[in-house]
Amino acid sequence: MDKKHGTGSTMSTGAPAASDRNSLTIGPDGPIVLHDVHFLEQMAHFNREKVPERQPHAKGSGAFGVFKTTADVSAYTKAALFQKGASTDMLARFSTVAGESGSPDTWRDVRGFSLKFYTDEGNYDLVGNNTPIFFIRDAMKFPHFIRSQKRLPDSGLRDNHMQWDFWTNNPESAHQVTYLMGQRGLPRTWRNMNGYGSHTYMWINAKGEKFWVKYHFHTHQGMEFFSNAEAAAMAGADADFHRRDLFDAIARGEHPVWTMSVQVMPYAEAKTYRINPFDLTKTWPHADYPLIEVGTMTLNRNPENFFAQIEQAAFSPGNTVPGIGLSPDKMLLGRAFAYNDAQRNRIGTNFHQLPVNRPKVAVNTYMFDGQMAYEHSGNAPVYAPNSGGRSWADETGPVEDGWETDGEMVRSAYTLRAEDDDFTQPGILVREVFNDDQRSKLVETVSGALLGGVRSPVLERAFDYWKSVDADVGRRIEERVRAGSAA
Ligand code: HEM
Repeated sequence: MDKKHGTGSTMSTGAPAASDRNSLTIGPDGPIVLHDVHFLEQMAHFNREKVPERQPHAKGSGAFGVFKTTADVSAYTKAALFQKGASTDMLARFSTVAGESGSPDTWRDVRGFSLKFYTDEGNYDLVGNNTPIFFIRDAMKFPHFIRSQKRLPDSGLRDNHMQWDFWTNNPESAHQVTYLMGQRGLPRTWRNMNGYGSHTYMWINAKGEKFWVKYHFHTHQGMEFFSNAEAAAMAGADADFHRRDLFDAIARGEHPVWTMSVQVMPYAEAKTYRINPFDLTKTWPHADYPLIEVGTMTLNRNPENFFAQIEQAAFSPGNTVPGIGLSPDKMLLGRAFAYNDAQRNRIGTNFHQLPVNRPKVAVNTYMFDGQMAYEHSGNAPVYAPNSGGRSWADETGPVEDGWETDGEMVRSAYTLRAEDDDFTQPGILVREVFNDDQRSKLVETVSGALLGGVRSPVLERAFDYWKSVDADVGRRIEERVRAGSAA
């Protein structure tokens, strides 16, 4: 607070503001004058005080915390944050996918699970979900997918028909849709859900050896879920229930904790494994690749300002650090571009200079200027190569986090392997992971959604889709919907 003015309100220049109550007029009943600069500033700033919401994952919130590496995984990665004993400050943001920034937290949806680690080697972001897989496996389909989950172009309404039209036309969605229509679609709180990196990433150890990894975050608070009725009631009673729950829990000193583990696949095995390990619609069976514990994440500090620290937070799966790389997953490669581009549009060219996004290490970049530029390197050279004493990356030849590619350029699906069909894994989920009660609830939820406006021919395609996941579940869904629509 400015000492001179004490607690009095000021203009953005710091000079005292004359009034926050009355505009300057000619006489009490007369017109407002144009030189009431404080009034004009209020009006103009108000018009600009929102940024566009995130295109997907608009509704969410988050908190700061710490990641502690408790196990020795140096055989797999040299990343500083994953060396035993390391403690790294971090930010987490949880979200729904399809809803707008004011939509209810408890509508059925996949939940985002975004993490930013402020490491000694730069910022590392892991932008995952509360499910280990996704609806599609080629980034080209992503805008179509999101549009189908959002709103109709004419009425502006959400539409079950459009959602199921997309899903049933893209059978690779079956695994994720089964998760979504099961309990995971309605977590009780963000504290009560697991998180997953979902994609396959690369880890590289100090010897330069490479591994493929999948990240898992298991909640210490226990997995808990809402029923359809509880979630619907909560959407009306408190649309911000998840946001409030996290904030209040941390304020009470109840700091949620997750254990991070990884599944590790030796680099060469990816070529011959019976499932394409880069297909984002598939999990890796734990019998083949068991979980290896790495450390714990604890969220212990609420944001002081939602807009500055959560709304303007910018996560990107492309933000990696030495010892961690991407993989040939086509979704991941598409995402490596999409996020920072969205943020340049959503927040501005220099979004990375904002305190919540700024790495805690020095940034030596030749990118300079642009809207809202704040940090700079004085008169250091702004080009490379240069003779001014600033070095530049000069790598040639193989890169340490690279992989081999071959073949001509094509537009094609992945080459199919022995167990790469779309329905085996969702079928296993329904038959071997779900119990009788969960199967009945799945039938109830899917039929409810199909009865909510899904028409022919999408309806018949949806029956076939579920019969391909599991014959019995599919038959029960069809019977229920036919009975329901006849009623
Ligand atoms: C947010 C694109 C797939 C999880 C976003 C945003 C974009 C985007 C543009 C908004 C970013 C911002 O404005 O800051 C894409 C594209 C995808 C894709 C093009 C596929 C090619 C996925 C997948 C996951 C995921 C597979 C999870 C495994 C998230 C999360 C957020 C998000 C959690 C919210 C980030 C935050 O909390 O700020 N996505 N996405 N997305 N996406 Fe994706």
